[in-house]
Amino acid sequence: MHWTRSVVSTIAGCALSLSLVASAHKAAGQTPIAPSATQPTSATHPTSQTAFQPTGQEWWKHAVIYEIYPRSFQDSDGDGIGDIKGITSRLDYLHDLGIDAIWITPMYPSPGVDYGYDISDYTAIDPVYGTMADFDNLVAEAKKRDIRVIMDYVINHTSDQHKWFLESRSSRANPKRDWYIWRDGKGENHPTDKDPSAGTPKTATSKGTPGAPNDRSSSLGRKGQPPNNWQSWFGHSAWHWDDKTRQYYYHYFYVEQPDLNWRNPEVHAAMDGVLDFWMKRGVAGFRIDAVSRLFEDPNLRNDLYLPGRNAYGDRNIQHKYTDDLPEVHDVLKEVRRVVDRYPGDPVLVTEADEPNVEALTRMYGKNDEVQLPMDFQIADVNELSAPRFRKLFNEIEHNSAHGQPEYFFSNHDQPRQWDRYGDGVHNDQIAKLMAVLELTTRGTPQMYYGEELGMRTTEPTRIEDVHDPIGKIGWPKEKGRDGERTPMQWSSSGEAGFTTANKPWLPVPPSTSRYNVEAESKDPDSIFNTYKRLLALRRTEPALRDGSQESVNEDDLNVFAFLRKSGDATVLVALNMSGRERTVAFHLDSKGVRGTNLAPLYTSPAGSADALSLDRVVLAPFGALVAAVR
Ligand code: GLC
Ligand code: MG
Repeated sequence: MHWTRSVVSTIAGCALSLSLVASAHKAAGQTPIAPSATQPTSATHPTSQTAFQPTGQEWWKHAVIYEIYPRSFQDSDGDGIGDIKGITSRLDYLHDLGIDAIWITPMYPSPGVDYGYDISDYTAIDPVYGTMADFDNLVAEAKKRDIRVIMDYVINHTSDQHKWFLESRSSRANPKRDWYIWRDGKGENHPTDKDPSAGTPKTATSKGTPGAPNDRSSSLGRKGQPPNNWQSWFGHSAWHWDDKTRQYYYHYFYVEQPDLNWRNPEVHAAMDGVLDFWMKRGVAGFRIDAVSRLFEDPNLRNDLYLPGRNAYGDRNIQHKYTDDLPEVHDVLKEVRRVVDRYPGDPVLVTEADEPNVEALTRMYGKNDEVQLPMDFQIADVNELSAPRFRKLFNEIEHNSAHGQPEYFFSNHDQPRQWDRYGDGVHNDQIAKLMAVLELTTRGTPQMYYGEELGMRTTEPTRIEDVHDPIGKIGWPKEKGRDGERTPMQWSSSGEAGFTTANKPWLPVPPSTSRYNVEAESKDPDSIFNTYKRLLALRRTEPALRDGSQESVNEDDLNVFAFLRKSGDATVLVALNMSGRERTVAFHLDSKGVRGTNLAPLYTSPAGSADALSLDRVVLAPFGALVAAVR
């Protein structure tokens, strides 16, 4: 959740001539040819329908996960909002693309303050998305196509409209009071009209269990100040005063998202029941939301301030006492134990924007926590830098838990990769480069809907059009996350084929005219067909599917290159992360690789399938090569 809001949009300073593009074959003494003519195609490699499907134990090691933001994927009933039947109607598309599992962001009943991440019932479907029967049908239809369904498990907080919270809030004596985090205000000891007897201020109680049921020690005073300086990720104090029971409750995110108290065993039991509910309906696992936020310092110590202010105007703060407390790992082990009671090797993916590889590695536990902690460090490099990517890929490849890496570049919380990694001139070329990086490395890739088309971030231009509340709180510095949640671009007609309504919930971006499934499927050199080809290669090339990964040419400042090896098969991947043509040589003897030639499996820009010499590989600006070493 390392949300990067500063969109990279520097066009100036990059005066590279487009004529340099496609120079790989020129330099190799060949005539440039039309992109489609010699690009190694999926025709020479079995397509996803016929090839290997991840099945059985550790299926998730070979799978490609695709994140669906259900509001924006496909509308089936013309209300301008995507829904479950819409997703079901697009399963063939996902299957043909080569997707093995979909992670669907929350579709549970919700007041929608955080667009579904404020859940008011964990075991139901919000009517805007359909019914439980629609959901069951989605799982069944997906299964027919070898696609698994991963649900979002939002564990840190509920909606303030969840019945648990309504009860908790109703009185200090309510049995669910301690399901959430209630505390007295600081210095809340001034007598009130209702308290004629009180003459001497009491000291704020931080002894015992403040906020525990029946603790009425401060109920008669004025509210005082928030218990400490903890800040919400979404701006301002993380404490909200509740007048009825005269205490503050804690919310890491919006005020309408009170944090559950994970120190209460009843919360564990209730949330385990949620896992059971969905596992019994045939889901393949969970993406666990915001896990680093589950626990807070019991002593309520103040966080340290850092220099400067954030987009909300608050002082910057280090979330030391509210993030990554060690107790998180006990919960992850518990979640794993619960899902492991079900067949099919259920998978757990975590959203955890860990600060370094050590913290990320802890998420694997001793193979008893999550199998796929998302790697936010790689997602958020935010510049095309061969040394930085090499370092991070090397680190996670050698993680001490021997855990499977999980890579992604875009999701529903941050500007799309096209905008963060593009240079404004070669963005399509860079989109393909990023596709190679994501789909040829050893790990489980996680795509975000529309990434395969080169969808762009399209932010609102007026505050009155903003949906995501942080865009209103933080405008104009923080415009919210609407920009990366725009409707899927199926075609150039109407509302991009997303809805029959005149007005989808978010506007269809102008880029739809060119970047859409219909148009791009017909263009062999499109971003879409790059993804399709690479997804097919991942299944058919054993080295890409199962092989080890090892960096080569480690001093190269511009080209990130690595080998994937499985048995006798070796594949070399070389990515030119610079805007200039680069010529590189590979000496692979020391890596135990025999062979002097490269048989291209994929080149970008599209190039010849003829063999290349390892001694001289010419890469176009932002060019990529995936080749078997022969
Ligand atoms: C996660 C979600 C994000 C949401 C937040 C609070 O980070 O990805 O969309 O706003 O949790 O639930
Ligand atoms: Mg709809």
